[in-house]
Amino acid sequence: MEKLLNWGLLSTAKINQALIKPINASKRTRLLAIASRSQSSADAYARENKIPRAYGSYEALLADPEIDVIYNPLPNHLHAEWTIKALRAGKHVLCEKPIALTLAEVDEMIAAAKETGNVLAEAFMYRHHPQTLKVKEIVDSGVLGKIQLIKGAFTFTLDREGNFRQIKEMGGGSIWDVGCYPVSYARMIVGAEPVEVFGWQVEGPSGSDDSFIGQMRFANGVHAQFDSGFKSPSRSYIEVVGSDAVLKIPSPFKPRKNSELFLVRDEVEERIKITGTELYLGEVEDICDSILLKKPQRIPLEDSRENIAVLLSFIESADKKKPVLL
Ligand SMILES: NC(=O)c1ccc[n+]([C@@H]2O[C@H](COP(=O)([O-])OP(=O)(O)OC[C@H]3O[C@@H](n4cnc5c(N)ncnc54)[C@H](OP(=O)(O)O)[C@@H]3O)[C@@H](O)[C@H]2O)c1
Repeated sequence: MEKLLNWGLLSTAKINQALIKPINASKRTRLLAIASRSQSSADAYARENKIPRAYGSYEALLADPEIDVIYNPLPNHLHAEWTIKALRAGKHVLCEKPIALTLAEVDEMIAAAKETGNVLAEAFMYRHHPQTLKVKEIVDSGVLGKIQLIKGAFTFTLDREGNFRQIKEMGGGSIWDVGCYPVSYARMIVGAEPVEVFGWQVEGPSGSDDSFIGQMRFANGVHAQFDSGFKSPSRSYIEVVGSDAVLKIPSPFKPRKNSELFLVRDEVEERIKITGTELYLGEVEDICDSILLKKPQRIPLEDSRENIAVLLSFIESADKKKPVLL
């Protein structure tokens, strides 16, 4: 019988709620502990969510010898620090996106994973969903003809006063928070890295962006455009434009269990229905496969590194008000 992997949640972050159900649902995982910076909030969270162990510091969670996997949903500027500490404490880590804020941090994280032999994965949940796998299959089948343009967006109205998303030093900015999705999606579809990016930003009070508009050029002639932001209603889509057909993906980043794609050829729209899975279960099962069965991760760490490299180039472009060559 396979070993049951015990998970610990690093903090009482809001996004934990998306992971608790899949960790409890998977046959290979058990949610064993929660840690918070305060014992009382850890205790309350453990009670509400029926988690057996509650720790009043992150260090105490990492010191629990029975924890196998740490889920790291800390504010972005703490991803690298606590992921490296967890890896060095002998834990595998599922770390929220963006995996880190500099390439030096990503390289240190990759080195720590290699040195310790523990698995580190970035929690880009959409990459594991059957809809995303189907999109890639359709694009690679050639039915769209020569891919010319990928357009996309991810915006919402941010109404969390004082949240790290609006504080530059904590990795705030819509490009880090949601722009990372269309950038990652376009790179996945093209299967290569952009050679040039150009971005504009609307700055918020702390200097991070409230909205971002970017475009990328790939060596094979594909162009991509996206916008991300905190100041408009909830919007997300991806459209892949080929010489022969267009693929429309209305819910690319948070596909539901049953989702739909639209293939438009000669002005005729074909509906493609996808029977999916629970959105966040895929990343839980993928890291279990890597830990228990030594399977390659669906999102290799080099892919996570390249996404950060592109996001940093966008920020550089917006700062310099010039295109950046990669
Ligand atoms: N994949 C997805 O669908 C998805 C969705 C949303 C967010 N995310 C990612 O998940 C991460 C967390 O987002 P969130 O909105 O869930 O976070 P959040 O609710 O703001 O929670 C972050 C937690 O970090 C802890 N923390 C430690 N140091 C902190 C500090 N200096 N300031 C504030 N909090 C601190 C706090 O927990 P304690 O007080 O308990 O220590 C806090 O509750 C981000 O990286 C984000 O990009 C991913």
